[in-house]
Parts: sequence; C-alpha cells; structure tokens
Amino acid sequence: MILENCNECYHCGPVHPELCALVPAFARGGGDLDWDAGIPHRDGAWTFTVTGTTSRAPFPGLSGKARTRHHGELVLPNLMLSLSADHVAAFTVWPHDAGHTTVVCDFLFHPDEIGRDGFDPGDAVAFWDLVNRQDWSICEQVQDGMRSRMFTTGYLAPMEQPSADVGRYVSARLPAGQIPDH
Ligand SMILES: [Fe+2]
Repeated sequence: MILENCNECYHCGPVHPELCALVPAFARGGGDLDWDAGIPHRDGAWTFTVTGTTSRAPFPGLSGKARTRHHGELVLPNLMLSLSADHVAAFTVWPHDAGHTTVVCDFLFHPDEIGRDGFDPGDAVAFWDLVNRQDWSICEQVQDGMRSRMFTTGYLAPMEQPSADVGRYVSARLPAGQIPDH
C-alpha cells in the first residue's frame, strides 16, 4: 500500500498542500503526470525544499529541463526514488509483517557539496519530513480501513494502472493459495 501511494499523486492535492504549492501540477492532474519529461516546479522554484531553492549546486551534467523539473521512480520491490536537481531522496521499504513496515529515507548529495564548508542538508530534510509524515499518516488510515470486517475488495480505475502493477508484482511472487482475490 505504501508503494501504491508512491505511484499515484491524486492524493497530493488534499494531503500535501506545501508540496502542491511547490509543484502546482501535482494538485491539478495528479493522475496524469508526464514523469518521463519531469514535473515542473512553480516559477522560481527548482528543488524540494521549503523555499523551493537551495544554496547547493545542481548535480553536474544535468540538462536545462532536468535542473528545473522533478523526477521520480518506483523500483519494485522496495525502492522509491525522488530526484531533485541537487539531491536524491531514496526510500527503502522493509516490511516486518502485514501491519508493520519500516521506511528508511536516505538523502544523497554530490560529494563536493557535502565537503563544502557550511554544508547543511536541513532544507531538504525538513521539507521531506513534512511530506513523509503526511504520506505515512494516510497510509495508516487506509490500512485501518482495510482491516474493517466490511472490507472485501478494492477497485482501481484505469488511471491507477501503475498502482495495479504493484499488486500484480506481489501476486506473481506469492505461493499458490496465498494470492488475494482483490
Ligand atoms: Fe504523498
């Protein structure tokens, strides 16, 4: 469910107001975003920090668009990547059982930036901490709902096929007899 949440952004409008202020397209068309081209920030912003800017330099070798657009990728089974021009937020998901998962959030910066006097990752970390807590909270709420005795099946719309991929990936790897019917 955490991976499915990562794979769709129509929750972004109501759940992530600060993120949508930075990337307005997330609020407008969360289910129909061109991730291959990258998602543009609002004018004047180019990275995932509270201000949308930072004193860190972009990674060397990025094209003009890559310096101003956000990219993301889910790598099954358990890696979520969010790529800003100056830092990468890399999440690894470690399930313990059906109800408990540890999500490790690592921040990656260029070694030259890390070695600079006064290097401070706090602007990116603070922003991600806010967004992460919003995501984990709604994931917990969805899980609470799925525990209800009334819950039998979830339905996915055509725009949710990337999320359906997560279920297909997991189902194909479960032993016969453990494949859920939803
Ligand atoms: Fe989210």
